[in-house]
Amino acid sequence: MRAVRFAEYGGPEVLESVEVALPEPGPGQVSIDVAYVGVNFADHKARLEGYRVPSLPYIPGLEVSGRIRALGKGVDGFTVGQEVAALTEGGAYAEVAVADAVTVFPLTAGTSPRTAATLPTVLPTAYALLHSVGRIREGESVLVQGAAGGVGTVAGQLARAAGAGRVIGVVSSEAKAAYARKYGYDDVLLADGFGAAVRELTGGRGVDLALDPVGGDVLREALGALAVFGRAVSFGNASSAPAWQVGQPELYPTGLSVGGFSILNLARTAPQELRALAERAFAVPGIELPVTGEYALADAADAHRALASRTSTGKLLLRVAA
Ligand SMILES: NC(=O)c1ccc[n+]([C@@H]2O[C@H](COP(=O)([O-])OP(=O)(O)OC[C@H]3O[C@@H](n4cnc5c(N)ncnc54)[C@H](OP(=O)(O)O)[C@@H]3O)[C@@H](O)[C@H]2O)c1
Repeated sequence: MRAVRFAEYGGPEVLESVEVALPEPGPGQVSIDVAYVGVNFADHKARLEGYRVPSLPYIPGLEVSGRIRALGKGVDGFTVGQEVAALTEGGAYAEVAVADAVTVFPLTAGTSPRTAATLPTVLPTAYALLHSVGRIREGESVLVQGAAGGVGTVAGQLARAAGAGRVIGVVSSEAKAAYARKYGYDDVLLADGFGAAVRELTGGRGVDLALDPVGGDVLREALGALAVFGRAVSFGNASSAPAWQVGQPELYPTGLSVGGFSILNLARTAPQELRALAERAFAVPGIELPVTGEYALADAADAHRALASRTSTGKLLLRVAA
């Protein structure tokens, strides 16, 4: 089968289209004839710096839509040919991908494979950040970094659906700000000096909940923008800053909390919890994530260039089936 992989770390040019052996599903797994692959920032980090890459060469890709091709031992509740969306542990940039059955979801009536490929990672992640970890309550204010990206587009809408009082996004350009305002955000700030701008917008109070995928100084500035008893949730390190540390000096004075979340780790440590939260997330009506770029599988490098350039909004997809 055709797949896109990298054999060394580097820029998008290290992605190569190759012929590899068909993967077979192990016990508890299914294989899927892939229709579409969702492109995630984590794929870019894998290619650039080896994020969650066990060995080289490596086929990236964490989410697909398509049809079940084969069932591994012990899998029931699925049929060959059934349309599904799935989270995978890598290996999705390919004509056939393997996924643990616990992270495979039948498509609901009326959902196209194209739409289905946009949501397996992003929607459960944004839901967990707001609800499971962030414990959002009605009327609270929320601050979201990367508001125009995949997770950010969905987080704005989910915060609104949860009854948030004020939803504030942070982005790196005016074009992204205009986009994010269409997806649940009351205010969208540019990254430079966002902490002071949040204080100004909230009359000096700060926000109740801040979601941070950037890390480093941005995480520290978000902590500084929290209201008394505010919570911050770290869920990424787009800045590639050294791992953050927070302690008594930051947390004690105003009773702050910091939480963390990784959908890939949860898939390993508590897959049934992940399934339950994904089902709750998929049940929230009216959440959309526009596909702003669709590329042939062999052109995956172009999708990575778009992500790396920080110009992309919404979701980028790779088209695999003819
Ligand atoms: N923990 C989890 O379970 C989990 C799951 C999914 C995603 N994530 C994380 O959530 C974030 C969003 O993921 P996504 O796949 O939806 O991607 P995305 O938001 O579509 O694209 C990445 C975004 O990161 C922002 N960014 C901030 N600093 C950056 C930098 N130094 N270089 C490049 N981009 C930078 C960019 O927004 P601006 O240009 O507006 O700053 C860009 O839009 C990523 O950090 C990802 O690792 C975590």
